[in-house]
Amino acid sequence: MITALRGTVDILPPDTALWQHVEQCARDVFARYGFAEMRTPIFEQTDLFVRSIGDTTDIVEKEMYTFPDRKGRSLTLRPEGTACIVRACLEHKLFAPGKLLKFFYTGPMFRYERPQAGRQRQFHQTGVELFGTYSPLADADVIAMMVHFLEYAGVNKVLVQLNTLGDAESRAAYCTALRAYVMPLFAQLCPDCQRRAERNVLRVLDCKVPSCKAIFSAPNVPRTTTTLSAAAQQHYDAVRRALDALKTPYVEDPRLVRGLDYYTHTIFEVRHGALGAQDALGGGGRYDGLVKQMGGPETGAVGFGIGLERLVIALRGTHTSPHERPPDVALVALDATALQDNLVLAALLRAKGLSVLSNYDLQSVKAQMRQANNAGAAWVILQGEDERSQSLVKLKNMRAGTERLCTLDEAISHLTSSNP
Ligand code: HAM
Repeated sequence: MITALRGTVDILPPDTALWQHVEQCARDVFARYGFAEMRTPIFEQTDLFVRSIGDTTDIVEKEMYTFPDRKGRSLTLRPEGTACIVRACLEHKLFAPGKLLKFFYTGPMFRYERPQAGRQRQFHQTGVELFGTYSPLADADVIAMMVHFLEYAGVNKVLVQLNTLGDAESRAAYCTALRAYVMPLFAQLCPDCQRRAERNVLRVLDCKVPSCKAIFSAPNVPRTTTTLSAAAQQHYDAVRRALDALKTPYVEDPRLVRGLDYYTHTIFEVRHGALGAQDALGGGGRYDGLVKQMGGPETGAVGFGIGLERLVIALRGTHTSPHERPPDVALVALDATALQDNLVLAALLRAKGLSVLSNYDLQSVKAQMRQANNAGAAWVILQGEDERSQSLVKLKNMRAGTERLCTLDEAISHLTSSNP
């Protein structure tokens, strides 16, 4: 038997109803803030991710699905969406001075990670990207929108963690401070962190090796907030003031750095208690340098990505899964002629907007009625020799338990008027 690959998951009904619910909530909420959907390919040139996410990040060094195509070009299954959206905006020349661009996306992402609860190799994100402003008000609005979306989808107890990396000047000062802390401990670091300490010291803070984690969670590890320039401090203060005004609760976490290189200023993550070890539901931040770095104009940008598997796990604990739509009507055939007639009747009713349960093989009336009942059908239309000889059908109201003989037209108009 061929089975699904490790770290990939089939999403089956009735779970798909919960997925549809979450995706619909994203569309509803993001539209209220003026975000339009963008769909980009799931594979791109490898360089796109190496240059944007950063060549010393865990994602690029260890987690990308990279392969040569038949012409030997290096391709990568997208590990995240931000780089793809920036690439598409550049390619379609969407950036223009003074123009705000707002996009959201939903779809599969791929990272070669060790699978566990809430961590897969093919997973799904819904994310948003806002371009065209450096205002701290945008950071706060995007964070508030993320919380709005999560609460609208049914998650309670959302906890936003907030930090800032500051501007280029603050970040350079922080890297100097961090390097000064790290270098005396160099011999105790894992080989990856030794390399990171020299090439991109910020990334040592993402290390998952327990001995490194212990070193970097010590209380005297430098904090990003101690090396902020005056301008970066002002930006951060304004984000916090705006979040307070929006009544969006957050806690500050000066240890938060996020695992992607493109961030500047505000960064944030949202966690949820039901998720266990992989408790980050989503994360994001400002990335003012990326568009320029990818060959575009200087552009302020901020966004976030939410992991949908994790969102579905969080909802399972607290939220009753919405049901698949039950049939409005089930068609019960008492003989082979009725079975054939029902094929056409079902098509007619569906064209009128009703959802219809019908069969292709003749079964006992008892079995068909049980099926209609189990599926939650509101009405049943029964047809057999007796009904046919009088040009009538039997219409049964499953909720009231009543039934009557009527013409097919009467039955149809009854069903369509009781199911607008
Ligand atoms: P990220 O933090 O790498 O950010 O991913 C966002 C979310 O995707 C995570 O918080 C988590 O819920 C989910 N996720 C990541 N990896 C996995 C996995 N292997 N299995 C299941 N879920 C996973 C980004 O991707 C940025 N592009 C977010 C962003 C948008 N920043 C600015 N704009």
